[in-house]
Amino acid sequence: MERRKVIIDCDPGIDDALALLLAIKSEELEVVGITVCSGNVPVRMGAKNALKVLALCGKTDIPVYVGEEVPLVRELVTAQDTHGEDGLGERFYEVLEESKILEGGVQYIVETLRSQDKVSIIALGPLTNIAKALMEDREAFAYLDEFISMGGAYRIHGNCSPVAEFNYWVDPHAADYVYQHLPRPVHMIGLDVTRKIVLTPNLIEFINRLDAELATFITEITRFYIDFHWEQEGIIGCVINDPLAVAYFMDRSLCQGFESYVEVVTEGIAMGQSIVDSVDFYKKPNNAIINVDVDAKQFMSLFLKKLFVGYENLIDSIIGGL
Ligand code: RIB
Ligand code: CA
Repeated sequence: MERRKVIIDCDPGIDDALALLLAIKSEELEVVGITVCSGNVPVRMGAKNALKVLALCGKTDIPVYVGEEVPLVRELVTAQDTHGEDGLGERFYEVLEESKILEGGVQYIVETLRSQDKVSIIALGPLTNIAKALMEDREAFAYLDEFISMGGAYRIHGNCSPVAEFNYWVDPHAADYVYQHLPRPVHMIGLDVTRKIVLTPNLIEFINRLDAELATFITEITRFYIDFHWEQEGIIGCVINDPLAVAYFMDRSLCQGFESYVEVVTEGIAMGQSIVDSVDFYKKPNNAIINVDVDAKQFMSLFLKKLFVGYENLIDSIIGGL
C-alpha cells in the first residue's frame, strides 16, 4: 500500500494529541513531520506535548518543529481552560528528549513541499503557520497534495462566540488568508461534523478493558476535558474534533459535504466566523469543501481499530451497541 505523506500542523491540545495518536498508528500515513503553532497552548508547550505523544508511541524519530508564537494580527488567546494549564489535562507529564524539538516550522513546511512530492497538510489548530508559509513561498504550495483543516462552523453555533470556532477565531486573518490564497480547496472539517464525535465515559471504560498501553494515557488526558464539556456544554463525554480530520483524510466516505466559496470574518462581532456562500451570492470561485454530515459510528470504529489492534471484533460489538 502506498503510504500518503502528511505534515500535521497542530496545537496540542488534548484532541490534537488523540489525532496524533491516530495518525502515528495508521499504516496508511507517513507523518513526515509535525509543526506546532500557538492555539490551545503557547507554541513551545504545544511542541513539548507533541513530543510526549511521539515518545509514548516510540516515534520520536518524527521531527517536531516550533512554528509561529502569535497570530498574524490578534493577541494570542489560548484555551488552557479547556485543555488544562499544560495542554494535556493537567497531567504535567515529564518531557523527555526536549532537545529534539526543532525551530523553523514555517520554513520546514515550504522546504518539505518543495523537496518531497505528494505531501498533504492536515491542520488541527489556528492557520498561522500555513498563512505564513503561503506568504513566504506561495509557489511551494503548487506541490501540495491535499489540505485538510479542522476549523470553522457552517450551520452550527461556534465555541468561541455564537458564530466562531476556536481555530479560526484565534487567528481569523490567517484563516482567511489561507482560504483566499491556497491553490487547493480547503477540506473544512468544522463543528457541524466534529460535534457529533463524542468520546463518552462508556467508550473510555471500554478502552480500559483493552489491555493496551494507550488506555491509561487517553483516560488521563480526557478527564479534564470531560469535566470542561459538562460545565460548558452540558454533555457527558468530550468532543474530539481533531481526530476526525485525520480519519477523513484516510477515509473520505466518513463525511458528506459540498463545494462552496468561504471567507473568514476578521473584525467585529462575527470575528472568526467562516462565511459559507452556499447559494453563490458573491459569484466567487469555490475554495472549499464544507463537510456537513458524518458517520460517527464509522469514525469511532476506525479510530478505535487503529489505536487498539487485535480487538476488531470487540470494537465492532461495542460500536454496534451505540
Ligand atoms: O474548535 C476546536 C479546535 O480548536 C480543535 O482543534 C481544538 O484542539 C482547538 O485547537
Ligand atoms: Ca487543535
